[in-house]
Amino acid sequence: MRVLSIRQEGGPPVFEDGPSVLKEILEDLPSFWGERDMRAQHQPVWLRQFASDAVVVRRDGVPLGYLLGAVTTHELAYVQLIATRTDHRGHGLGRLLYDTFLSQARSRGARRVEAITATTNTGSVAFHQRLGFSAHVVPDYAGPGQARVLFGLAPLPQGH
Ligand SMILES: CC(C)(COP(=O)(O)OP(=O)(O)OC[C@H]1O[C@@H](n2cnc3c(N)ncnc32)[C@H](O)[C@@H]1OP(=O)(O)O)[C@@H](O)C(=O)NCCC(=O)NCCS
Repeated sequence: MRVLSIRQEGGPPVFEDGPSVLKEILEDLPSFWGERDMRAQHQPVWLRQFASDAVVVRRDGVPLGYLLGAVTTHELAYVQLIATRTDHRGHGLGRLLYDTFLSQARSRGARRVEAITATTNTGSVAFHQRLGFSAHVVPDYAGPGQARVLFGLAPLPQGH
């Protein structure tokens, strides 16, 4: 795989360019999620108010993967979602996105990270466990009858 750059200028998206990144992603959702309708999970807040915490990997200007998340004031980093293009998986992009996000998060005081996924998303569970996350099914996490898998990692690994 060719050397990847995170944004052409280097660094995560910032507030000013967050909306344009959101537009790019929303116009190309099936390339990342296939048939799943994920529009509701891409609330504007993640690439407007929290744009500086997001990470996008591009090659030749084209987004190959992205991670939306935020660092709280309570030493917690939260990942809303992560996705890589269906035809670019298994090449370390997901790990690169997490490494970059966690490095930023750690430098801003985060000591632990949480993420969630649907209980049916076995690929996401395997991926997160491979990265060292614990995984627990939490009943009613997102409301009555809405269980989710909650991932946790603490403390953040050295190097992040
Ligand atoms: C989950 C996802 C982001 C992984 O991206 P990726 O670029 O393929 O991940 P990587 O290549 O960096 O894989 C990192 C490690 O996880 C492992 N892994 C990744 N997907 C896996 C899977 N489905 N099953 C088992 N292991 C998996 C890889 O083998 C790799 O292990 P290694 O580093 O020891 O070799 C990608 O599959 C995706 O976008 N899925 C759809 C969106 C989604 O479900 N996101 C998560 C919920 S928000």
